[in-house]
Formats: sequence, structure tokens, C-alpha cells
Amino acid sequence: MAWTAIIAALSILGLVEGWTDTKIRRFPDSFMFGVGSAAYQVEGAWNLDGKGESIWDRFLHENPDLVPDGTNGDVASDSYHHYKRDVEMLREMGVDHYRFSISWPRVMPSGFPNQINEQGFQYYDNLINELLTYKIEPMVTLYHFDLPQRLQDLGGWANPLSIGWCEDYARVVFDRYASKVKYWITMNQPNSICLEGYGDSIMAPGVDMKGIADYICIKNVLLAHAKAYRLYEREYKSKYNGFVGISVSVNWANPINNKTENVQATEEYREFSIGMYLNPIWSPYGDFPQVVKDIVAKKSLKQGFFKSRLPTLSAEEKKLLKKSADFLGMNHYTTMLVKRSFQQYPSPSYQDDIGVEFSQDTNWRGAKSSWLKSYAFGIYKALLHINQNYDYPLIIITEHGWSTNAGLWDQSRVQCMKDYMRALLLAMEDGSRVAGYTAWSLMDNLEWASGISERFGLYEVDFDSEDKKRTARESALVYRHIIEERVVDDWTPPRLDIDISGRRLKRSKKNTEL
Ligand code: NOJ
Repeated sequence: MAWTAIIAALSILGLVEGWTDTKIRRFPDSFMFGVGSAAYQVEGAWNLDGKGESIWDRFLHENPDLVPDGTNGDVASDSYHHYKRDVEMLREMGVDHYRFSISWPRVMPSGFPNQINEQGFQYYDNLINELLTYKIEPMVTLYHFDLPQRLQDLGGWANPLSIGWCEDYARVVFDRYASKVKYWITMNQPNSICLEGYGDSIMAPGVDMKGIADYICIKNVLLAHAKAYRLYEREYKSKYNGFVGISVSVNWANPINNKTENVQATEEYREFSIGMYLNPIWSPYGDFPQVVKDIVAKKSLKQGFFKSRLPTLSAEEKKLLKKSADFLGMNHYTTMLVKRSFQQYPSPSYQDDIGVEFSQDTNWRGAKSSWLKSYAFGIYKALLHINQNYDYPLIIITEHGWSTNAGLWDQSRVQCMKDYMRALLLAMEDGSRVAGYTAWSLMDNLEWASGISERFGLYEVDFDSEDKKRTARESALVYRHIIEERVVDDWTPPRLDIDISGRRLKRSKKNTEL
């Protein structure tokens, strides 16, 4: 990277005093702007019309205290009954695509294809048809955390048979929608599914078998992705010409200082957090990163295991995985500062395997969620890292967002979106092949075990109202402007008492400040 590009990047992001980069960068006309959501977070209707129980239904029904505000996904934003309003909101913002997920237990309550729930499918038929009527491209995630509970009873993603169960589910969904849906995402954030749901108890199903179940899960989830990809490639691609990718959490990590041990710890951490999911698909040798394999093997033997806790990938599995994606779905939110740690972690565990401590710069602006701080240069660095290590893959930003309190004037979200989009434009100028950006999220929803108090929506949801009333935040208006103009400028909505459709609003002047 040329030094001028670095200076430009830093100055755009306000990090080098005295430098003002005034160049106006445009998103190309082909660039896709969208917003995202996930079934359990918005749909509600958890047991209506023949839907089966999911691991999240079970998890939050059995552990109601886990969510500080006592909410769960039983009703959530009730999109099951308000999908028309959801699509209306998409039209108001003028987005090109809507990323949403299909709930596996809604359409296949037993988890298997012996039971197809027509009524459940009807909901997605309606949503997809409504989107297509208004020329909004559906971008469908097959799996966003909500496994049928019946399959969890058989071990879920820790059981290698899950790879085949998922392939059957993918076949049913592709058969039904391949003619209408061109953009597919197999899995959302394998790291969250496995590390938080199998290696911990902060996400469903809360197996909490550290350093063992998490690694088994990662292997199975990646193979399930690859099988679904190959299925599409073999049986649907030539007829429908769609694209299939996987969404991976690619947050950035910087060393806390330039001490050699911290720089090395950061490089290792990147392999554990990014390489683990990208290497099998995008690296030339198609395997887990060597450094991860070495560290886990060494620790495992020391701990009394006869072999590494990290499962191996056979030659056949590597072949299946290699190049099994048409695009990388990148979910990016924040940056961590990494320091080598000598503190005791539970052994065995993923934390113990990595041996690092995290912090964030106190100067970075913070969101409502404690882990989320704004450092826009992070997305630029992450994109460059991907280019250098994985040879410029095609990327769609499948998530980026910011959480606030309730309230419509969300300047902090607007600021974050603009800063990150500027950094994204710069990365594109420097060679990143980014085809689209998906803001998380269309509307406020159930932020998993954090409930409804961490609000990620461009639209506010009034959870107390009968119809879960949705109202555009300032960020929705700004997003519409960016989509129209295809540049990030200083425009702010001139009339704050008029909503996105020009209707007069009775809004409270409450600020969405943190
Ligand atoms: C990533 C997850 O995919 C999504 O479900 C979640 O709401 C956001 N991160 C924000 O935490």
C-alpha cells in the first residue's frame, strides 16, 4: 500500500491532523445497498401455524433470567404479521436488497424433510413475492442461529450427521426459491454459533464444553456450508445463475503496542478469529491455519488428550471446502486491541488456546453494546488483510451496524455509518472488490441474550404498541440520501418533524444518545 493511501485513510478518518482529503469517492452504480435482519430476531410467531421449536425458543424459555430486560423472541418485532410494512420501509429507504433468514424449524418442524410446513413456507412466499413486486433483491440466509430443537436433541452441530441434515434443508429451500432468489448465504457467523453456543453458554444451545465442542462445531458448520454450496453448484447454478456465500465475522485486531510479544499474539489471534473460517475456503491449501493447528495440538497433548482437540480435515473435506463460495459475506462491527496474556483461563478452552487479553481505546466512541466501539480504519485494515491473504475475493458487507437506546435522533449511528462507509470507499479504491453493503439492522429487534434494549434498527420499533409500530430514525433518512447520491456527504435531514414518506410526525424530541 502506498504511503499516500495510508495518509489519505488516516486523514479521512480524522486521525492525522492537518490533512484533509477532499476527494469525493462514489459508490459505483452497480453497488448494492441493503439492510438485514434474522428470523428469530424479528419474526415472533414462535409457535404459530405449525412452526417447530428452535434452540433459541428452548434456550430463552428455560433461562428467562439470561436476558436482563426479560424479553425473548416469542413476539419480537412481529414481522410474521407485518412483513408488508417491512417491505414498505425498504421502499422508503430505496434499498436494492433485503437480507433476511429462513427459520429452519418454521418450514421443517422436525428438522427433517419428512415434514414440510406449508403454512410456514407461505410466510416466506409472501415476503419474497412482495420484495420482487418492488424490485428488491432477496438475499436469503439459510441458517442464522435457530436450529430445530429436535436436531439439537441429537447433538446439533456437534454431530457430524448435521452436515447431511443441513444439506437436506438446503435442498428443500433451493427447490422452492432458486427461481426467485439470486443471493444466498449458507451460514451466519460460524464463530458465534460454535464459540458462544457450544464452547460457552451465552448463545443457544449453551452446551458450554470449552475447547472441545466449539472446535467440533466449527468443522461441521463449515462442511455443512460447503455441502450446501456444492449442491447449488451441481443442481441449480446452470439454470438460475445465483451466488452462494457465507457470512463470517471479520472484526479487526490491532496489537496494543509494538512489543514483539503483542504483535505476535495479534497475528495468532487473527488466525484464530479470521483464518479459522477463511483459510479452508479461500487459502490455496484449504485447511485450518497452521499456527492454530500447532497451538491446539501442543496444548491438547499437555492436557492429557491423546490427540488434538481441533479435528482434522481430510483431503476429501479440504477439496470440498476449497473455493466453496462465490463471495465472502463480511460482518464487521469493531476493532480490538490485543495483548499477550499470562492469566489463567479455564483449561481446556479456546481462550486458553489463544492466550490473549482484549481492550479498546478509550478515545473510540462507544455504542450501547459494551463491546461495540467505533474505529472506522478497522474495516479498511480488515479488507486489506483479506486481499493480501486471500487474493482479493469478491466481498459483500453482509452486516455493519451500531446500537443505541430508544429514540429517533440517532446521530451516533449516522456518524458511525458515514465513517465506515468512507473507509470502505477508500478500501475499494485500493483494490478491494466489494459489491455491496448491508446495514444491520432494518429495525430494532431481539439482540439475542441482550434483549431489546440494545437497539440496532434504522427504524425504531415501539415494542409496547399493538402493531409494533415502526418509525424511521434519522439514520434511515441519511441512508436513503447516500443510496440516492452514492456519495457520503454532510447532508442531514432538513425537516425533523416530517417522516421519510413526508408525513407529519409527532415525535418526541428524545435523543438516541447513549
Ligand atoms: C451479528 C449477528 O449476525 C446479528 O444477529 C447480531 O444482531 C449482530 N451481530 C449485532 O450484535
